[in-house]
Amino acid sequence: MPIPFFLTESEQKAILAASPKTTVTALLDKYVGKRRLQKKGLVSIDQLSPADVALIFRAAFVFKERYLKKSQTSKLALLGGKRIVNFFVEDSTRTRTSFELAARILGAEVVNVTGSTSSMAKKGETFEDTVRTIDHLLPDAIVIRDSRSGSLAFVASKTRSQIINAGDGLNEHPTQGLLDVYTIAEEFGSVRGRTVAIVGDILHSRVVGSQARLLHKLGAKIRFVGPATLMPVGAEKVFGAKVFTSLEKGIAGADVVSLLRIQLERAAAAFIPSVSDYAAQYCLTPARLKFAAPHAIVLHPGPINRDIDISHAVMESAQSRVEEQVTNGLAVRMGVLYLLLH
Ligand code: NCD
Repeated sequence: MPIPFFLTESEQKAILAASPKTTVTALLDKYVGKRRLQKKGLVSIDQLSPADVALIFRAAFVFKERYLKKSQTSKLALLGGKRIVNFFVEDSTRTRTSFELAARILGAEVVNVTGSTSSMAKKGETFEDTVRTIDHLLPDAIVIRDSRSGSLAFVASKTRSQIINAGDGLNEHPTQGLLDVYTIAEEFGSVRGRTVAIVGDILHSRVVGSQARLLHKLGAKIRFVGPATLMPVGAEKVFGAKVFTSLEKGIAGADVVSLLRIQLERAAAAFIPSVSDYAAQYCLTPARLKFAAPHAIVLHPGPINRDIDISHAVMESAQSRVEEQVTNGLAVRMGVLYLLLH
């Protein structure tokens, strides 16, 4: 197993080899220590230093390798007495389930509110008033997904609870960026100097907002690949990225091919001739993947659209890390909740 940049080889071996009697708490005390994130929620990757990211990854490694893989099964009470509300105005499978599982495994009380089950849907209460109401139930954190870019930074300045961004419109999705980069670090040891080709709907993707910010912070080489109409103006000036409209050229020699879904619910259809035309040029097939480095891995935040953004064969291939990303999402969210709330 390659050595993640956030743990030395001997630290990693020691964590994996610790006796089953060594508790997760003892491992966290030893390998994460007393340092925590600033207790100001997590709305943007910009709030994190590289040292913060390494801390999150150290905690995630302990949780993944020593708890989720069932070396230990006794319940963790690390967030006993803490209250977390998940407020998802936009639908979600992976993110909401993993935030909820993460919080429950850590021993917190969790309540779920969705747009359609809140008074927003039929009674006209606004998003801001709904968040203020939830805030006055005195939770420790509110995990929010909303369709409007920037809405979370706006409410975070007004709440006493910590606000954790689970995706705001086209803007950011910080825990997704963290789990993507954790998956890369797990594979290659370090992301510094690695070439990551981000392919697809760059214009409408909040995943890019966090993934590219984080890759840039950690010294990766970023390429944006996709139709010119889905490329933000000035994309090449951001994050030192190189822009490609040809998939084959854009992924040539890349260590990581990071795919994105076409965001049809954000009007992406108006930016491409048709979904099948898009797939004809940009769907990652085994033949196209051969242009990337032989050791390249393939990421996708999900939900995948089989044979549109990723071919069935690539999804099922040994190079796909798409399902490992889901597991890593649980470990990373446990790390974030622990470091913000413990
Ligand atoms: C993404 C999202 O909703 O931002 N999915 C996710 O959280 N795993 C990406 C997408 O919807 O395409």
